[in-house]
Amino acid sequence: MRTPRDVLALSPVLPVVVLDRAEDAVPAAEALLAGGIRAIEVTLRTPTALDAIGRIAERVPDIVVGAGTITRPEHARQAAQAGAAFLVTPGVTDAVLDAASATGLPLLPGAATVSEAMRLAERGLDTLKFFPAEASGGAAALAAIGGPLPDLLFCPTGGITAENAPRYLALPNVGCVGGTWLTPRDTLAARDYARIEALAKEASALER
Ligand code: 3PG
Repeated sequence: MRTPRDVLALSPVLPVVVLDRAEDAVPAAEALLAGGIRAIEVTLRTPTALDAIGRIAERVPDIVVGAGTITRPEHARQAAQAGAAFLVTPGVTDAVLDAASATGLPLLPGAATVSEAMRLAERGLDTLKFFPAEASGGAAALAAIGGPLPDLLFCPTGGITAENAPRYLALPNVGCVGGTWLTPRDTLAARDYARIEALAKEASALER
């Protein structure tokens, strides 16, 4: 079983993928993998997400697929059943945390403040999603959080781009960054997998 830190170590960028059509799941995951990306987060924001996670888990075994946008306890159970290998939440409630922990899957819970991060650390969760990263003060805020909480490792997400990613990846408390920019919705709609692979190549070459 992987730890949340193992998931962050897989690639410098964790693509956050919003899939409108389940049939895009496998070719999109294959394009990301061909571009050097080893983990992906499929958000439960579309009705096809659980189906998509199942397809990727079964047919693209070399990429680790997780479920994101877990905002209700049942999402955690459904994602685990669908084959997700890790769970990501934008924020937490006790019920979501309990349900996510009960799956036994590696969990990246969302936090945007020092207090939220401290509460999660108190529960033994030391690998967090910093969300929404840019709107919460960006790399400067995350660097400051690392002062009192140096043992926490983050995957900042929300407003991250190829341009600002290096600022986060240079921080000692960042394991990887997350974002939707590798799989733009119009690129997926056009089935332009070559573009996704090119964006993935660029992203997987980012230094951390
Ligand atoms: C997420 O759910 O992680 C974010 O909405 C992704 O944000 P982005 O589109 O700004 O990358």
